[in-house]
Amino acid sequence: MCGIVGILGQHEAAPMLVEALKRLEYRGYDSAGIATVNDGALDRRRAVGKLVNLSDLLVHEPLAGKSGIGHTRWATHGAPNLINTHPHQTRRVAVVHNGIIENYRDLRADLAKAGVRHQTETDTETVALLAQHYLDEGANPEEAARRTIARLEGAYALAFLFDGESDLMIVARKGSPLAIGHGTDEVYIGSDAIALAPMTDRVTYLEEGDCAVLTRSSITITDPDGNPVTREERTIQLDAARVDKAGHKHFMSKEIAEQPTVISETIAAYVVSNASDIKLPGDGIDFTEINRLTMASCGTAYYACLTAKYWFEQLAGLPVEIDFASEFRYRAPPVTDGTAALFVSQSGETADTLAALRYCEGKAQSILSVTNVPQSSIARESDLSMPIHAGAEIGVASTKAFTCQLTVLFLLALKAAHARGRITDEGLRAKLEAVRGLPAILNQAMGVEEHVRSISQRLAESRDALFLGRGLMFPIALEGALKLKEISYIHAEGYASGELKHGPIALIDEKMPVVVLAPRNALFDKTVSNMQEVMARGGNVILITDAAGARDASDGVWQTIVMPDVDFDLTPILYALPVQFLAYHTAVTKGTDVDQPRNLAKSVTVE
Ligand code: G6P
Repeated sequence: MCGIVGILGQHEAAPMLVEALKRLEYRGYDSAGIATVNDGALDRRRAVGKLVNLSDLLVHEPLAGKSGIGHTRWATHGAPNLINTHPHQTRRVAVVHNGIIENYRDLRADLAKAGVRHQTETDTETVALLAQHYLDEGANPEEAARRTIARLEGAYALAFLFDGESDLMIVARKGSPLAIGHGTDEVYIGSDAIALAPMTDRVTYLEEGDCAVLTRSSITITDPDGNPVTREERTIQLDAARVDKAGHKHFMSKEIAEQPTVISETIAAYVVSNASDIKLPGDGIDFTEINRLTMASCGTAYYACLTAKYWFEQLAGLPVEIDFASEFRYRAPPVTDGTAALFVSQSGETADTLAALRYCEGKAQSILSVTNVPQSSIARESDLSMPIHAGAEIGVASTKAFTCQLTVLFLLALKAAHARGRITDEGLRAKLEAVRGLPAILNQAMGVEEHVRSISQRLAESRDALFLGRGLMFPIALEGALKLKEISYIHAEGYASGELKHGPIALIDEKMPVVVLAPRNALFDKTVSNMQEVMARGGNVILITDAAGARDASDGVWQTIVMPDVDFDLTPILYALPVQFLAYHTAVTKGTDVDQPRNLAKSVTVE
């Protein structure tokens, strides 16, 4: 994780570095720091906790200099304290790093033999000490950086700044993304182009193993063999004003509220105007040549895949395998002929998902991805990349990205069903009309917020909660539990309703709230039976259903949240809304940090 930035500029670097870091805080907020070269001398400021602490420090202890690097940390090696905060600096070099140096213990041991002592618990300090060691041996900065990089194993985006060198920065990328931004007599670097948005829209992405030597007037990129290479410069469209809550108390609340609008944009991007077909980017994919789908993702994106499994199997008759990307990549699953591999990721940079994708390269017939960042590594390395058009999502707990992912995945499943002759033209048209009606239904469903807020006052007093669902509601039960635990810190578990009797029922007593997701579909009666089993044991049921379900099954239920009617295939998208509200208002009631919950980060770029 972590975010890195850097500037060789014409103006004071510190305010620009802090502004850029603000846009990367989604990558971690355990601590933050910057280093500059001022009058030829390296200096740094660092602070534990959120970026605002660094900003406050800079008010009292300003840092001058027009060249600088910065870092926002999600701790991997060593506690989130000041000594472990980046930049790591020696006499002549300062380093910021995103990733994990896997052989840092060996490197440390080698340095110790040479009499070099570590002061921090981090893997990154080893990089700075190694570079210093080579400088001490007489290497120039570029040689020192290159010799250091050559010894590193693991994943990194790195930036080096040198004492006495106010027009030099050396950067490298392996396993963690790094973008170079082009300005007028200025150059910038960032883990993510979003960090550079206020400064430039002209960006070059480094490729795996690339190293770049930057000055204000030149950018020299070399590949892993040290050969000079040219990497494409792109003009990217980024929302420079993304850090805006639009009047909401939290980004999460803004992002929940945006769902009807952003989903209508997703639909407009994929559904042709007379609702007769679905258009995919580029050449799309020929589903008649596909006989199996394999999916791997992490977190909320994994639950989007789990939902899509039901759609692809039921609507398109396509067998689906699904796994957490972190398991998939080391499981070495056979990827047989006719397999399409599909990866879902909001950020498009999640390390395990990217590694799972790379595992499938050369094995799968086609690699597909669904991301929110079209310039991301996952999008760029796919044969077919499908953007979700959710707009920047800042809240760490994913909301609008999830429902937009679901929308794209549902449309893709329909496309597959149509191509494979499982649904007629008329059937497709009817489903697409239902999809087009979704934003209005979501708008209507926003009306449940007040009721959910009142329920959350009581839910906030609970220590544990269960979420139950069957079929398409099972992944939403898992997602509801994840949302609640990650932002309110209430222990929550999602279960397939039918599994209740096989363990979790032992947890039920009068203190246990149980959220039951049950639209009145073919599985309703079965889920209601499980709900009765909960109520018979004193559990407090919060039933989320539609008007027909509420009429038939509200007796004895503690609270019933009534959702508008929708095509049953689309219930996961609609029923995501009340579980998001439930988590949000419970967290607000408890006073936790909704947008930046403890220990989490939005983009997980380490294994
Ligand atoms: C983190 C985030 C989650 C997200 C997951 C996968 O855990 O907090 O919200 O679902 O990573 O991220 P991705 O960017 O691949 O969707």
